[in-house]
Amino acid sequence: MHIDLSGQTILVTGASRGIGREIARQLGASGATVAVHYASSSDEAVSLCKEIGGRSEAFRADLSNAEETDRLFRDVVEAYGRVDCVINNAGIAVHSPLEGDLDNWVSDWDRTLDVNTRAAGILTRAALPHFVENGGGRLVYIASRAAFRGDSEDYLAYAASKGAMVSMARSVARAFGKQNVKAFTVAPGFVRTAMAQDAIDAYGEDFVLGGIALDRLTEPADVAPTIVLLASGLSDHATGCSIDINAASYVH
Ligand SMILES: NC(=O)c1ccc[n+]([C@@H]2O[C@H](COP(=O)([O-])OP(=O)(O)OC[C@H]3O[C@@H](n4cnc5c(N)ncnc54)[C@H](OP(=O)(O)O)[C@@H]3O)[C@@H](O)[C@H]2O)c1
Repeated sequence: MHIDLSGQTILVTGASRGIGREIARQLGASGATVAVHYASSSDEAVSLCKEIGGRSEAFRADLSNAEETDRLFRDVVEAYGRVDCVINNAGIAVHSPLEGDLDNWVSDWDRTLDVNTRAAGILTRAALPHFVENGGGRLVYIASRAAFRGDSEDYLAYAASKGAMVSMARSVARAFGKQNVKAFTVAPGFVRTAMAQDAIDAYGEDFVLGGIALDRLTEPADVAPTIVLLASGLSDHATGCSIDINAASYVH
């Protein structure tokens, strides 16, 4: 199987670090023009664009802000003329204990849902008419094992935000399939990034390893190839699916 993404322009949110960075790198290595989105890690985003080369450019937007999120899509279209695929990867996991102040809990909830779910919704809303006008497109939603297995009591908002991404992806797949728009969810378990480091530090790597069936922790490079395949169009008849990448730590 040969994957060639040349001619495709792909927006990857949260591409400055972690899983998104590796997704962007592998999409670029397969020939795509990658719009590298970041919020605060500008140096990382710029260095990644240099590494990918071609017409890859960095785009800043705080995805907790609805206007900035909407503008991000327009900025990318303005830069390249068209977008073929959006990878909704950017996300936050906020430790939010049930005890304590309601205002704090609600603020954590809102921030988590804004960045993880509402931003993906705004980008979906912006991308759909563009895709329909241009003959089609693809959306990939990076959810989480938490969407299916659930998470701990301190991460209720995180799990809820990821569950909502799954239902959004399935809705898009069902509603827009006839207009050649495909939507997929990828649901990773623990992946060695800054986001997972807190848990690794708190419980130790052996604890995390004990929960999976393989003999080493999942790395971003173990997740990215699936997204490259989904972006290629070779899996279009899997539209609406969710793919677990969790080293058999939760099989459903
Ligand atoms: N790591 C895991 O174990 C794991 C497991 C399951 C699912 N996931 C999901 O995979 C995705 C990537 O996670 P990761 O582990 O790679 O996380 P990460 O290393 O913490 O990176 C997060 C990325 O999201 C961006 N981001 C954060 N807040 C943002 C905001 N307000 N506006 C715009 N961008 C923002 C960051 O951009 P800047 O640095 O530029 O601010 C960064 O590029 C997330 O959706 C996460 O929920 C991760």
